[in-house]
Amino acid sequence: MRILVTGGAGFIGSNFIRHLLATDPAAHVVNLDKLTYAGNLENLTAIERDPRYRFVKGSIGDAVLVDALLKDGFDAVINFAAESHVDRSIQDARAFVETNVVGTQTLLEACRRYRVPRMMQVSTDEVYGSLGPSGRFTEDSPLHPNSPYAASKAAADLLVSASFRTYGLPVIITRSSNNYGPYQFPEKAIPLFITNALVGEPLPIYGDGLQVRDWLHVQDHCEALALILRSGVAGEMYNIGGSSERANLDVARLILGTLGKPETLIAHVTDRLGHDRRYAINASKIEQALGWKPRIPFEAGLKDTIRWYESHPTWWTRIKEGAYREYYRKTYGNLSRVSL
Ligand code: NAD
Ligand code: TYD
Repeated sequence: MRILVTGGAGFIGSNFIRHLLATDPAAHVVNLDKLTYAGNLENLTAIERDPRYRFVKGSIGDAVLVDALLKDGFDAVINFAAESHVDRSIQDARAFVETNVVGTQTLLEACRRYRVPRMMQVSTDEVYGSLGPSGRFTEDSPLHPNSPYAASKAAADLLVSASFRTYGLPVIITRSSNNYGPYQFPEKAIPLFITNALVGEPLPIYGDGLQVRDWLHVQDHCEALALILRSGVAGEMYNIGGSSERANLDVARLILGTLGKPETLIAHVTDRLGHDRRYAINASKIEQALGWKPRIPFEAGLKDTIRWYESHPTWWTRIKEGAYREYYRKTYGNLSRVSL
């Protein structure tokens, strides 16, 4: 099976490529990645010499390059490539529209031209918007994206669905809840909290910290995606969730407790604009149709993730000392002056 993975040098894509090559001897993977600030080939050193793997540097928005690749014949395309951070989309949404919307459309057009038998779009529960204290998102929940990031992913999802209805392109959309695990870029909440705690820096909590996310270990997500790749039905959508709702403040406390650090490191900072209060996924469709269930309990997965960051300091210190530093200063510039 020849699979084009896009955005495979990022967090979930790199975990997926390693998972696929380890579990499916018939899988051959080409990884097309633009290597933005979030793309890191160090995430793939374990498999970079595998003869079943090839890396191509480039953008999903480059129609000539995408055509040249798909001309070779692929059994599936799975699109992870995206600008993925909500706070960056609030600062400047242009790249989100270019990659998440225009880039996805470019991929769809090429998949149609070269009759790719399966195209999977890796999407997010954030397209559904924010929940109140009860209820969970199903595949039938209306789209109500609130951040520019979520709006760009929802726009892409609509283009993907339209290509099924209009042209019969065999597409599948997956919408997962918040992922955590090894190799996550330390701008996202969990790796940011862990790496700050490790060096004794404050953990920035937006607003009251009572916002809720439904945490899913990246390994569980990868297993769901591999299953859908093999057995999912074209034209369908699958929600993927961890059934592990936790408030941000509780996650921060758990990280500090595990590392034996004081809770005085918690720093309440100005809330994110338009901050969604709660996400929660109803995953009964994939559970019933494909027999998938998340296997990693949140507390155990978080402990393993903390150990991973503890034992890979070079991976994240290099990121935190590089270009990312400027973004961090811009976003959390006055953190040391916020009440601790
Ligand atoms: P990430 O930011 O860690 O990685 C994104 C990757 O895409 C990077 O390697 C980057 O270089 C690459 N990329 C960006 N623009 C590109 C372009 N134009 N062409 C080719 N490559 C490009 O993101 P992630 O957390 O691994 O998320 C992967 C996908 O999963 C995204 O589509 C995201 O919307 C979705 N998703 C993420 C989560 C989560 O919790 N992280 C949850 C649900 C869905
Ligand atoms: P994040 O990891 O950015 O994922 P998303 O916004 O896509 O859910 O954030 C997870 C939650 O943590 C979200 O409610 C925002 C919050 N958060 C903080 O409180 N402080 C931070 O520094 C960050 C990055 C996020």
